[in-house]
Amino acid sequence: MLTEYTYEDFVRELDFDVIECLGENCSIYKASRNKELVTVKFGKFPGSWDYHHVITENKTLDRVGKVEGIVEKVSFHDFKDDKLVAIVKKYVEGEELCDYPGQFDSDVLVNAVKALHEKGIVTTDLYAWNIIVDPSGKPCIIDLGCSFFEEDEVSKEIFADVKQKDLIDLERMIKIFHDRL
Ligand SMILES: Nc1ncnc2c1ncn2[C@@H]1O[C@H](COP(=O)(O)OP(=O)(O)OP(=O)(O)O)[C@@H](O)[C@H]1O
Ligand SMILES: [Mg+2]
Repeated sequence: MLTEYTYEDFVRELDFDVIECLGENCSIYKASRNKELVTVKFGKFPGSWDYHHVITENKTLDRVGKVEGIVEKVSFHDFKDDKLVAIVKKYVEGEELCDYPGQFDSDVLVNAVKALHEKGIVTTDLYAWNIIVDPSGKPCIIDLGCSFFEEDEVSKEIFADVKQKDLIDLERMIKIFHDRL
């Protein structure tokens, strides 16, 4: 009898060793290859939210490129026969901003959000648990699965006013700063 592949099997198929499962629904893994630490995030079944988030995150990271304060993409994988997609990103060593006790470099965060907006991307998910702060105080946005793109029809419906779309991220950013006062 054929046994179904688990997400961990797919992590190994990508040539990474599984270290642990991250997040709540166990579709994200911390993994390693040689000395490189990564996260592997899965989305199953086209049309599901998880699948959409992985596709969106891949498009976002490709469009914004390498920017300080934004997690680096390693690779994207489409296991078509299994209706499964996966994005591999660099693992950022540190703590979620909500648990980080010290001062962090807020300029890095502001510039990262600016870089996204300049490329027509609104993150919409700028919460302290989606930002990792490294031991030197540099923040990094690690989850961009809920982004919206300026040119998408759905974005035009939701963000009728261009200014309004940027405000969503700005409000969340103000909340992040306010919560730390
Ligand atoms: N590249 C990374 N570096 C370090 N930690 C990460 C990375 N990616 C994810 N994590 C950790 O895993 C958690 C969940 O990842 P992510 O935010 O991408 O997924 P999610 O779908 O929002 O899951 P959840 O609903 O559990 O937050 C993050 O809040 C963070 O603590
Ligand atoms: Mg998240």
